[in-house]
Amino acid sequence: TTTVRVSPAVLGFAAVPHSLEDVVKVPAGYSVTVMTRLGDPLAAGVSAYANDGSDGNFAQRIGDHGDALHYFGLSAAGGRDDASSTRGLMVQNHENLNVQYLHPNGPTNVSTGPRPAAEALKEIEAHGVSVSEYVDAGNRKWSYVQNSSFNRRITPNTPMTFHGPAAGSALLVTAYSTNGTAGRGTINNCANGMTPWATNLTCEENWAGYFRRDAADDAKRSARELTALSRYGVTSRTGNYAWSFANSTDSIYTKWNATIIGASAAEDYRNEPNQYGWVVEIDPFDAKSTPRKRTALGRFGHEGAFVRAVNGQKLGVYMGDDSRREYLYKFVSSATYAAADAASTSRLAMGDKYLDAGILYVAKFNADGSGQWLPLVFGSVPNRPAAGSTPEYVFADQADILVNPRLAADAVGATPMDRPEWTAGNPVTGEIYLTLTNNNAAGRPLNGTDAANPRHYNDPKGTSNTAQYGNPNGHIVRLREDGDNTAALTFKWDIYLFGADAADAGANVNLSGLTADNDFSSPDGAYFSRSTNAAGQFNPVLWIETDDGALTDRTNCMLLAAIPGRVGDGGAKTITNTGSTGATATQATIVGAPATAANLRRFLVGPVECEITGIDTTPDGRTIFVGIQHPGENGTPTAPSSHWPDSQTGAAGATVRPRSAIVAITKDDGGVVAL
Ligand code: FEO
Ligand code: CA
Ligand code: CA
Ligand code: CA
Repeated sequence: TTTVRVSPAVLGFAAVPHSLEDVVKVPAGYSVTVMTRLGDPLAAGVSAYANDGSDGNFAQRIGDHGDALHYFGLSAAGGRDDASSTRGLMVQNHENLNVQYLHPNGPTNVSTGPRPAAEALKEIEAHGVSVSEYVDAGNRKWSYVQNSSFNRRITPNTPMTFHGPAAGSALLVTAYSTNGTAGRGTINNCANGMTPWATNLTCEENWAGYFRRDAADDAKRSARELTALSRYGVTSRTGNYAWSFANSTDSIYTKWNATIIGASAAEDYRNEPNQYGWVVEIDPFDAKSTPRKRTALGRFGHEGAFVRAVNGQKLGVYMGDDSRREYLYKFVSSATYAAADAASTSRLAMGDKYLDAGILYVAKFNADGSGQWLPLVFGSVPNRPAAGSTPEYVFADQADILVNPRLAADAVGATPMDRPEWTAGNPVTGEIYLTLTNNNAAGRPLNGTDAANPRHYNDPKGTSNTAQYGNPNGHIVRLREDGDNTAALTFKWDIYLFGADAADAGANVNLSGLTADNDFSSPDGAYFSRSTNAAGQFNPVLWIETDDGALTDRTNCMLLAAIPGRVGDGGAKTITNTGSTGATATQATIVGAPATAANLRRFLVGPVECEITGIDTTPDGRTIFVGIQHPGENGTPTAPSSHWPDSQTGAAGATVRPRSAIVAITKDDGGVVAL
């Protein structure tokens, strides 16, 4: 059973106001250090980043669009040390590109091809994951170590192996791996997860759009295959960035073309899209280790993978699938977790033990505040219903279900959500939080709400930003497993928080009582501070990060700190929704206690056109690391719309290009951040 101590931690900083400035704003008494930035060199002898589009060799530089991050402590001797708050390995995802800034005059034929191969290679290698060593020289003087032997880039070209039930499936056979057990690379790495044995889980999110499928391919595919390709969005005729048009023979380019060409799957890359959409385990302490794709966790638009490990229980991994009307999933291991395994030095073998055998479930949220985990197991999942009498998708085996869990989740009647983003677990209570970033009228019409996705209204700000009917500001759902057990088949839930612009009128908009000091839109990142820090903090801070949304006319994206309560601390509520015709409809739901100045405050606002992405703290809680992603994403090579991070410390030249980067934030008195 979980012991919950009663005195909560107290937020001890003054809320940061809305900001449209091109700097990272933090509370008075805090300092910002810019750490690794797009293009920073990760090996001796690699030149400093010129940031004018001339730089190459991203296989040895920090990638673009830094997303989720995690700090793994290192001892003075260079081994794993979970308690170290002064030396560690920063593992960061590189989700995507501000492609206009990567080349001297922007990209060539980026949406159609042909592409210059050198441009395509740079763009490919700017994706993936980086490992870089961070050191505090004392007094919170953080820097990174360019020539550390731990530094590593994992790119879409890095060899990887498949593990779990789908490894060796015919669905994974390609010209690169004719037995379906290996592949190259990872892409669109969004959020993450950490295991107790100190590996990093990187999650492949919007991978589908990178693939090209020619019109001729449609006629070569069965109706069943086309159903799966369409359900996963592998429908582009060029692929993002048109990489397959850069070279007709080298498979690091041609693999992005999933069109059937050869006589069998072993002769082309028709199955390459099946090689992405997985959770990938990386051992950050071994730069030569081969990352392992964990197929038991299913293939979808993986946002994050929060691991809950309780000694004596099964391991639970909670995962959102980020698209409108997608689902929340949970993997439960077959093996019972033994806390002693956390210290194993055979880290990837621990992943084999806990992440390769188990059951994948999908969540169904009931109107009464209960929920069910529905197993996606071959034999019990019905064939996907079709409008007519013939099922449009008949599952072949468990590997097929794991390659296509969206289809299986449709079939079992899971609850479609308002774009699931991060999952985060309260390390004290075990409750799981899920951010639901937003939805529109197509995804959540007036009469298409449910108790867990209860809102439909108009963002009243007109057309100045993302005004729309639906749920434009998003919300955060949380759940408590029955019996507090990761393997439970049932749970209780409520809606912890609703996003809103506090200045907007309308009884159905600001449902959590937000003010100018804590209003937000489109929650995305969510992460609990470690509960082991030096302050003895035992009701850990929940950090909430935002991505664009309906508040960007008023403020850049932000990071909030929260002291959340528990599932069931609010009560039943009926929301009156309004549609575009003026019609109204009510939706009953279950909400948490309202926000207050004491339990929710804005801690940081980022620079122009950024998203706030990754976050972690040192074990002592005295430093937090935050990812600032895609500042200036709407600018041009000659007229960048942000100059961050150069703009952080003073005026930057009008042509200075922005760079995604990590910041280290410390309290000037050396105390625990946020408290
Ligand atoms: Fe990559 Fe769902 O954010
Ligand atoms: Ca995200
Ligand atoms: Ca998002
Ligand atoms: Ca974004």
